[in-house]
Formats: sequence, C-alpha cells, structure tokens
Amino acid sequence: MKVTILGATGLLGKVLMREWQGDEVVGLNSRDVDIRDPDNLEEVVEKTRPEWIVLAAAYTNVDECESHPDLAFGVNRDGAVNVAKAAQQIGAKLLFLSSDYVFDGKKTSPYETGDARNPQSVYGRSKAEAEVRLLEVLPECCIARTSWLFGTGGKCFPDTILKLAETRPALDVVDDQRGSPTYTVDLARAIISLCRAQASGIMHATNARDCSWFEFAREIVKGARLTTEVRPVSSQQMARPAPRPAYSVLSSKSLQHYGIAMPTWQDALQRYLQERKN
Ligand SMILES: NC(=O)c1ccc[n+]([C@@H]2O[C@H](COP(=O)([O-])OP(=O)(O)OC[C@H]3O[C@@H](n4cnc5c(N)ncnc54)[C@H](OP(=O)(O)O)[C@@H]3O)[C@@H](O)[C@H]2O)c1
Repeated sequence: MKVTILGATGLLGKVLMREWQGDEVVGLNSRDVDIRDPDNLEEVVEKTRPEWIVLAAAYTNVDECESHPDLAFGVNRDGAVNVAKAAQQIGAKLLFLSSDYVFDGKKTSPYETGDARNPQSVYGRSKAEAEVRLLEVLPECCIARTSWLFGTGGKCFPDTILKLAETRPALDVVDDQRGSPTYTVDLARAIISLCRAQASGIMHATNARDCSWFEFAREIVKGARLTTEVRPVSSQQMARPAPRPAYSVLSSKSLQHYGIAMPTWQDALQRYLQERKN
C-alpha cells in the first residue's frame, strides 16, 4: 500500500513515520507542500499517487488560533478541503485528524461520534467546519478525532510538567477540565489499523479512561518519582485566550467496531516516561 503522511514532522507525524512498517510511506512537512496551496498540493499528490493520505498537518496552537483566525481556518479548514479535493482527483482515501474541541464540553458522559458539534474556540471551529466540508467533498473519508496528545519528539503536557517539576517546589494545574490523554504511539497504531481496514466515517481515537489535567500532572510527577507538590486550581484561576471544553471524553465504540482497543492513559504514560528516559 502507498501512503502519504502530511504533517510528518509533527508530534504525531513523526511517530506515524516510525511505526508504519511494511507499506510504502512518504512523509511531507510544510516545506515540502503547503496545504493552503491547491496547485502545489495537486502536483505533490499526483507525483506520489498514494492509496491513503493521512492528514496530520494542522495549525495546532489553540491559544494562538484565537488571535490568528485567518491562519487557523486557512490551514485547518481550507487546507483540509484542498487535500480532500486532491485525494478525490487521484482516487485516494483520506484520514483526517480532528479534535475533541469540536464539542462544547457540556456533556457528562462520553461523546459519541454522532453527537452535535458545538465548538467554543477558533481552533475547534476550524476543525468542526473542516469535518463538515470534508464529508461533502469525500463522503467516504475517515475522520479520527483525538485529544490531549502526548509523546516524545515535541512539546506536550507531560514534557512541560516534568521540566517545571524539576525546578519548582509546587505546580498549580486545572482540575475542572476532563479528557483522555492520548499517546502518539497508540494513536499511530490505531490510525495504521484503520487505514488497513479501509475505515470510513467518524472515529473517536483516544487512550482509554479519563482524568483532569491535575490528575494527569499528579500521575506524571509520581511516575517520574519527583516530589513536587501538584495543586488543583480552577480554569478561572488559570485564564487562557481559548476556552477549553470542561468535559471532552470521547466514546470508544467506533474503534471497537474495527476491533481496535486502545490501552489506558496510565499504561501509555508509563511507556512514554520510559521512552523519554531512553
Ligand atoms: N496535539 C494535540 O493535543 C491534538 C489534540 C487533538 C487533535 N490533534 C490533531 O492531531 C493532528 C496532529 O497534531 P500534532 O500535535 O502532531 O501537530 P504538530 O506537532 O503541531 O505538527 C503539525 C504538522 O503540520 C505541519 N504543517 C503546519 N502547517 C502546515 C501547512 N500549511 N502545510 C503543510 N503542513 C503544515 C507541520 O509542518 P512543519 O514541521 O514543516 O511546520 C507539522 O508537520 C493535527 O491535526 C491536530 O489538530 C492534536
């Protein structure tokens, strides 16, 4: 199978490149092709002619998206539509990475794939609008929503917590946002399985079980055998430019349909800490 990964230098993309064995995989970053440029994209896709395109390229700084909506919609929505059109022209299948931020966070039980989108941030809106447009252009495409990504090879929450914990006696972390941390290695494996299974439609792909950022930070510090105190605070005390959903746990039913079971985030965290040490 021939596969092209857009966003191959990102947190997820790097791991996808490493994990994807046994197929012919080409990885591209923003210097190889800017997904906002449809002509450039068509040219590149025409040259590589993959059976699957995995679109992991995005403008992912959620807070910066608030002050740069043109960039957010330009890359995350319009860029994604360009990719879908290029895929359509050569008959390639598309797997698009989306986010838990397409939801408003008002539910108290896991979000199902068919639940209504109601994004609260510019980033969330750019992803939600991309999903709607992609399903119009390529009804058979696969949309994999994930959340709270962490992994080696880039900036992520556990890495930030560990760096801070080494220099500070105490850390304040928000305790009123719940979600599912997701290890890039486990997500990459799920994506590879979905492509091999010719999956289509909306998928929710996160590590199993949920926690608050505070609970996640406490487990990170404990796992690294550090003594830093972790204190729970509210989102109001830690105001940030982009609003975050208070609850964005995603139901695993869609993955179960494909026989895919993601490990728990606690198990994933142990493997991440080990990988970070090596
Ligand atoms: N991180 C999370 O917590 C999280 C949560 C939910 C969903 N997601 C989604 O998961 C996917 C992967 O996220 P990530 O954290 O791995 O992203 P990331 O680390 O920010 O990497 C972004 C990738 O996109 C590429 N890129 C950016 N703008 C581009 C453009 N205009 N044209 C072509 N390529 C461009 C970058 O290339 P350069 O290296 O050349 O800049 C890089 O390879 C994204 O769709 C993201 O929205 C992430």
